[in-house]
Amino acid sequence: MKSLSGVDLPTFVVETREEAEREVVREIVELVRVRRGSVLGLPTGNTPIGVYRELIGAHRSGSLSFAQAHAFNLDEYLDIEADHPASFERWMESHLFANVDFDAARRHFPSTTNSRDADDVARKYESAIRAVGGLDLLLLGIGRNGHVGFNEPGSARDSRTRVVELHPMTRADATATFGTLDQVPTQAITMGVATMLDARRIRVLAFGEKKAAIVRDTLFEPQSSSCPATFLRGHPDVKLFVDAVAASALQRA
Ligand code: PGA
Repeated sequence: MKSLSGVDLPTFVVETREEAEREVVREIVELVRVRRGSVLGLPTGNTPIGVYRELIGAHRSGSLSFAQAHAFNLDEYLDIEADHPASFERWMESHLFANVDFDAARRHFPSTTNSRDADDVARKYESAIRAVGGLDLLLLGIGRNGHVGFNEPGSARDSRTRVVELHPMTRADATATFGTLDQVPTQAITMGVATMLDARRIRVLAFGEKKAAIVRDTLFEPQSSSCPATFLRGHPDVKLFVDAVAASALQRA
């Protein structure tokens, strides 16, 4: 793992994504073991799949229990049933929760099937995170458009959990999951940028060619709402892990 110099977001270039996954899993395992009631912020998507697979392995080998841990997912589509095949709740169930021992009452999603309740749900999500002492460790991927969670371009640094309109690129990326573009929801509820920056530790993963341009922008574009991932720079305990392909645009930056 090589650390990149001259950037204000500590960045590590790994040989393989597994190397980064192992490092992040090591930190999560240690946190969950040491801190009773640890609070994790968790993403869905292609990026965290390997981390979840390793966590399931650690649990099955008997060396890790999540029974006292809290999980807060970054986001959820608005107005979608929990058991909808494309809901993030269902995704988390199949990729992590069904295979480990998280207490159902400690797994949280900013979800509602009634959009009139959405602002209230968002406010309560913030309170629920605060009530358990804030996020200890937030795991993140970065969207091709620079979003973190569903903080799409235009999201302010001081934004909190709220209803957002999904960006066309985000909806296009979700088409395969929903079947057709028309079926992809237009809105979601996401943790805000400020909610994320309040986490004590943030670990970000970006793998593959599709992320090369956004990794470069995250590190080198001026910090602004046009690329919400740039707001991660300057967090007191953030690390970005990229594979060689995702780092390939950095030499040209
Ligand atoms: P991905 O998405 O993990 O599926 O690449 C990342 C994101 O959009 O945040």
